[in-house]
Amino acid sequence: MTGIGGEGGPRAWALESGRRQLNHGSFGAVLEEVLQAQDHWRRRFEADPTRFVFEDLHPAVDAARHVLGEFVGADPAGLAPVRNATTGVASVLVSLEPFLEPGDQILTTAHDYNAVRQILRFTAERVGAEVVVARVPFPIGDPAEVTAAITAAVTDRTRLAVVDHVTSPTALVFPIEAVVRSLEPEVPVLVDGAHGPGQVPLSLDELGASWYTGNLHKWVCAPKGAAFLHTRSDRIDMTVPAIISHGYNAEVQGAVERYHALFDWLGTDDFSSWAVLPDVLRIVGGLQPGGWEGLMKRNHDLILDGRRIVSAAVGTELPAPDHMIGSMASVLLPDASGLPTRGDLSPLMGELSQEGFSVIVQLWPQWPHQLMRLSAHLYNTPEDYTALADRLRLRFS
Ligand SMILES: Cc1ncc(COP(=O)(O)O)c(C=O)c1O
Repeated sequence: MTGIGGEGGPRAWALESGRRQLNHGSFGAVLEEVLQAQDHWRRRFEADPTRFVFEDLHPAVDAARHVLGEFVGADPAGLAPVRNATTGVASVLVSLEPFLEPGDQILTTAHDYNAVRQILRFTAERVGAEVVVARVPFPIGDPAEVTAAITAAVTDRTRLAVVDHVTSPTALVFPIEAVVRSLEPEVPVLVDGAHGPGQVPLSLDELGASWYTGNLHKWVCAPKGAAFLHTRSDRIDMTVPAIISHGYNAEVQGAVERYHALFDWLGTDDFSSWAVLPDVLRIVGGLQPGGWEGLMKRNHDLILDGRRIVSAAVGTELPAPDHMIGSMASVLLPDASGLPTRGDLSPLMGELSQEGFSVIVQLWPQWPHQLMRLSAHLYNTPEDYTALADRLRLRFS
């Protein structure tokens, strides 16, 4: 296979060429130029670790926090670095645990991410609380069905609602503004925005959720290990990381300094994926006319075409309206045979991988068949979806 790769061309990305990369959503992808910029930070650290940690690290973490604040529409005071969205969710649950009592409820939806569900279960089991699952429908015709299902599941024992911004298995953009408006302040909301940044525009201060955790190593194309937790100002003094370190007895003034001291240094680590964020936002945001807005629109338009092509090839209906799609989309597969159990790889996914397609096929417990989730980023072109459709037509006709 040749000629794969959109703007920037295949060599600009670290991705192996010759494969159809259709699963940006799971782990992102990086540009060679970003890896080089990251390497600069790694080498600064390794050139003089002592000087780096005691003199350079703090200003670098802060500089990235400020640039990120502009990107996500948030006062940098509420932004803390975390290694990934899993850690962001875990931090909020660790922070809330002392306030939970037996019989309390943590609300989530049937579209949540498995690792996140396990954190909720773990916390609930420790305190005798219960995880309540709102059955948001799928296929779905209207975003109002999301808000209705979530609010219908709230009780006077609901202490936290964990709601995805863009869901993982079903790849839906939830109406997060309406959800937050309908729950806060009575029910604190933690938005799982693992897929938010770089896929949909963000204004976190305006959104007003108690917490929002987002990955930067997915749709922003930062190197792995770049994510954030955003905490609303009135929740900052109760929010701690899942790991306690030097920040706990650091000499600080006020809740924001304490919050930063707690999150910014969690032990010796590779800080390069966070430090390089200003470069990432500039480099990736400069690849497309219209900057980040242009990039998101380009990817959105491509995935709408892509999902139509693939759905038509397998003969299934589109499970959601176009306006509930960001830059990834799940396609319903008609074949209910050979289903893997949750967490297992689908045999179809393995077959496609052997033929050069990196695409995720998974079982989602609420849907009796498998879902194929497609992604669109700048290295994808319409041919990626037509090639996949040709392959699937053979299998499903
Ligand atoms: C909705 C959702 N939440 C959380 C995560 C976890 O992200 P990470 O593995 O970067 O912690 C993912 C990963 O795909 C996800 O899709």
